[in-house]
Amino acid sequence: MNDILPKEITAWHAIEAAFVRISERYNYQEVRTPILEPSALFVRSIGDATDIVEKEMYAFTDKGGDHLSVRPEGTASCVRAYVEHSVNAEEPISKWFYKGAMFRRERPARGRLRQFHQIGAELFGDPGPYSDAEMIAYAWDVLRELKIQNLTLLINTIGGPETKARYRETLVEYFTPFVTELSEDSQRRLETNPLRILDSKSPKDQGMVAGAPTLLSILSDADKTHFDTLLKLMDGLNIPYTVDHKLVRGLDYYSKTLFEIQGQGGELGAQAALCGGGRYDGLVKGMGGPDVPSIGFAMGVERLLLAQHVALDTEPQGAFIVVQHESLRAEAFRLLQSLRSAGIVADADLRGGNMKAQFKRADKSKSKWAIILGQDEMAKGVVSLRPMQSRGDDNTNNKAQEEVPIAQLLDRLQTLLS
Ligand code: HAM
Repeated sequence: MNDILPKEITAWHAIEAAFVRISERYNYQEVRTPILEPSALFVRSIGDATDIVEKEMYAFTDKGGDHLSVRPEGTASCVRAYVEHSVNAEEPISKWFYKGAMFRRERPARGRLRQFHQIGAELFGDPGPYSDAEMIAYAWDVLRELKIQNLTLLINTIGGPETKARYRETLVEYFTPFVTELSEDSQRRLETNPLRILDSKSPKDQGMVAGAPTLLSILSDADKTHFDTLLKLMDGLNIPYTVDHKLVRGLDYYSKTLFEIQGQGGELGAQAALCGGGRYDGLVKGMGGPDVPSIGFAMGVERLLLAQHVALDTEPQGAFIVVQHESLRAEAFRLLQSLRSAGIVADADLRGGNMKAQFKRADKSKSKWAIILGQDEMAKGVVSLRPMQSRGDDNTNNKAQEEVPIAQLLDRLQTLLS
């Protein structure tokens, strides 16, 4: 779990702002749900045989005896809120986005944290496949807006609930004869969640996984048509993709379309999945709501930061007041507050001190202008304005400095900063 320090926050703001911008372009609206939910919500939606529920949830019993968990992801909470507020009775289609901290007790690595942040979106009420294509395009646009390069988009279908159940049986039949050769995790999964064996990273399982039957052979005609239409729409959007029939993803609620967008390079390392998403048509009904088909995605902000090559720096802004003499500090303080009241970003070194030290602080504060209060100038009713960027290192380059009557300072600053 990391601290995000003020010096790092600009990049976070940039990612969140880009996400909000693109979300609004797609007509999505923000939802905020609690960080704590009843544990049963995640067990029932994500699935009790998933890594998240089996090993990674921060679950506890509170003083009233309620079993609660700190949210490991956002979809389950959105579905709970959607059902609880009968949102479908108000509108046939709901488009929600969210951003926030999620918690999974995973083995920490670069790009894999126990508290991480997701930006995500959920669309309720549209069975697809046009909305599948739109959802993928939306995620793609967010990554493009962030100028993240070298992306790989993987798409798969796991069919509707019946197909999924039949595929489960097919996999059990296929893997059972080799059960003792499978990794320990996969042996367990054969009983609890055989689809997850396809996701296994264990070298022991690789050969058997490669030869496993794909779901294509048992897809229903309707599922096939859905998937083919999606791929045609993707071709029309000019978004390059790869169909990967081994893509299963680690949450039980998925049905039909699944997708993942991976990055590479930067400092990303092994945690390449930037974005994961898919359709979960049965979940709203499964959680006690109406039969409302849904699809969504989420991205890990920390991974986006690792994948982004350009460091985002803060633009200099506002003004920093520097006083030549101790006797002017009270005057400077009044001026500082009046600038702030007028909406100007303003700062000063309230400890006072010599001018050189104050200029150092002005530099650190990334101010655009220094306002210098000198005794002689104040006697004439003027202050000096000095651009921070063109100043020489030794503070002696006064070329661009100008004197401004105090009465006109606000106007002049507003013009200079606009
Ligand atoms: P997920 O694949 O579990 O899907 O997570 C989505 C993204 O969150 C991942 O691709 C990754 O970028 C980031 N992420 C996950 N775990 C960690 C971690 N421990 N540290 C850092 N980043 C992480 C979901 O959560 C689904 N709710 C997505 C979804 C929304 N499906 C439908 N709607």
